[in-house]
Amino acid sequence: MKKYSVAICGGGSTYTPDMMELLCMMQKDFPLKKLVLYDIDKNRQEIVGKFGEVMFKEYYPELEYSYTLDPKEAFDGIDFAFVQIRAGGMDQRNNDEKIPYEFNCIGQETCGPGGLSYGVRSVVQMIDLIKDIRTYSKDAWIINYSNPAAIVAEATKRIFPYDKKLVNICDMPTSVLDAYLPLINVKRSQIYPKYFGLNHLGWFTGLYDKETGHDYLPDLLQYVESHYEQIHEQFENKIKGKDDHWGITFLNHLEMLHDFPYSLPNTYNLYYIYPNKSLTHYSLEHTRYDEVINGREKMVFEYCKKITELGRMKGTEYDISSKINPNYAVDNPQAAATVYADNDVHAAYLVELVLSIINNSNDIALVMTKNNGICPNLDNEMMLEVACRIGKEEIVPLNYGTVPAFEKGLLENQFACEKLLVDAILEKNSLKLLQAFTENRIVRDAELAKKLIQRFIDVNGEYWPQFK
Ligand code: G6P
Ligand code: MN
Repeated sequence: MKKYSVAICGGGSTYTPDMMELLCMMQKDFPLKKLVLYDIDKNRQEIVGKFGEVMFKEYYPELEYSYTLDPKEAFDGIDFAFVQIRAGGMDQRNNDEKIPYEFNCIGQETCGPGGLSYGVRSVVQMIDLIKDIRTYSKDAWIINYSNPAAIVAEATKRIFPYDKKLVNICDMPTSVLDAYLPLINVKRSQIYPKYFGLNHLGWFTGLYDKETGHDYLPDLLQYVESHYEQIHEQFENKIKGKDDHWGITFLNHLEMLHDFPYSLPNTYNLYYIYPNKSLTHYSLEHTRYDEVINGREKMVFEYCKKITELGRMKGTEYDISSKINPNYAVDNPQAAATVYADNDVHAAYLVELVLSIINNSNDIALVMTKNNGICPNLDNEMMLEVACRIGKEEIVPLNYGTVPAFEKGLLENQFACEKLLVDAILEKNSLKLLQAFTENRIVRDAELAKKLIQRFIDVNGEYWPQFK
């Protein structure tokens, strides 16, 4: 079997250790020749990089493993680049989330004004990064998780229009399925979904059995309605007294399902459809940034440092020997990837995609692709998130059809905003920047837009291009 070479961009990301563990566990199904971590932040990457040295030495001794700040070293002759960068790092995430709260406006890393600010930084860095990867590996698959993915996808579509092996993905729609399907005892591998939207603003409108064609969505919606109080209480008990962002999100999501009981929405729709409730989720003093920095970031880095200090995992409480190469993986990669991923879904979903590519199994996954008639009553240029068949050489979308008025209105508004932002960045056009912020459903007001932009200019420094 061919052995693959992989680069992980954003080597210092808190998602990287989990991803490396998964690659280690899947060495039979996705055999690697070489793995390189790449980052521009030396210190962060070193913490993760050293952990990898210990793990791979014990569990994957033949793997050529390294970490580097040099693009040539990272991208020369690779088959895959997994990209998960955060332009501006966590400090700028803090600004993206806090500054809107100065104006009593939702502060979120990908939706609303914070997402637009993040978009400005991310588009600039992503374009450079993809050019770097393409300089050294013309034919590698580039699979991107970096946010704000809708805006990144809009930009990469324009700069790399013929690049068939560049794909933007997000875990959220799949996570929604994994949260709800167990309620009716249906496995994700059993169904193919009908889903449409822009990234972080979308809806499932069908969940079809692969064998029989039966649509489980009405069953699911009915189950949720008839057990609403019970599920609500379950969700509530789970998050009582805890700072559980995703718990609260799914509780609000359940209420959204109750109000609009005909589709299964993305959790991120909450920001646009319930802006008032979303606003109270956090405050100027405390946003998701604080939870991540004191939670996941601390935990993951402490874990890496601990392993580095121990110099081994075998024979310790961190031993992963039992998880290496479960033998059912080849036949059922989807199930396998889910089992592999103890801690985080990002790595699992990514690997599902990769397995579909290398085995040319044409499995269905939700990824971003240009509309081109998939939804004939939406702008052909939209980068839609829809169900696609994932094959060895390309990604082929399934047709969706006409979208309804409520969703169409929301999407067209959001698309105008994101399109204007990308225009603004590529043309360095300050008028379009103002239009993008004003167009945004969470901002809505040009005076507010001007104030927000000024504050983002203040804090972004070098990251903010000169708009004319
Ligand atoms: C989901 C979204 C990602 C987002 C992440 C934030 O996975 O799909 O786009 O980056 O949540 O999670 P966090 O735990 O960092 O707030
Ligand atoms: Mn996402």
